[in-house]
Amino acid sequence: MKLLIINGPNLNLLGLREPGLYGRETYDSLCARIAEHAEARGAECEFYQSNHEGDLVDAIQGALGDADGIVINPGAYTHTSIALLDAVNAVKIPTVEVHISDVNAREDFRKISYIRAGCVASVIGHGTNGYLEAVDLLLDRLEA
Ligand code: DQA
Repeated sequence: MKLLIINGPNLNLLGLREPGLYGRETYDSLCARIAEHAEARGAECEFYQSNHEGDLVDAIQGALGDADGIVINPGAYTHTSIALLDAVNAVKIPTVEVHISDVNAREDFRKISYIRAGCVASVIGHGTNGYLEAVDLLLDRLEA
């Protein structure tokens, strides 16, 4: 099994960025933890982060024929991007949406997620451990 872990804008600044909301774990440390978690279940992870919407669309399209599942935190593009929704619907690769913070308990504009309609599940507000939960959800589903 191969999973593609995609992170959108500003998530490269994890650890530094608003730690009260997103915690103190760095992006690199998070990726290492996700890889280790997936490896323990016999799965491989590839990581991609970009601050640019079109690059995220390209990454989703590039997963076609390569990844069995996608974990994505689209950052602020969650609340604006129909292009990301169209991309996950186009490739039809099971995708889980992750948000580190509880977007439902923040500003109203964060309650809207366009990509959610194309995802098999969402993990919201569980901190960076939410990515591990997303990996488990995907692997459980792919192994079933
Ligand atoms: C986020 C929530 C978004 O509203 C925000 O723009 C982010 C991070 C989260 O992980 O909680 O960049 O997706």
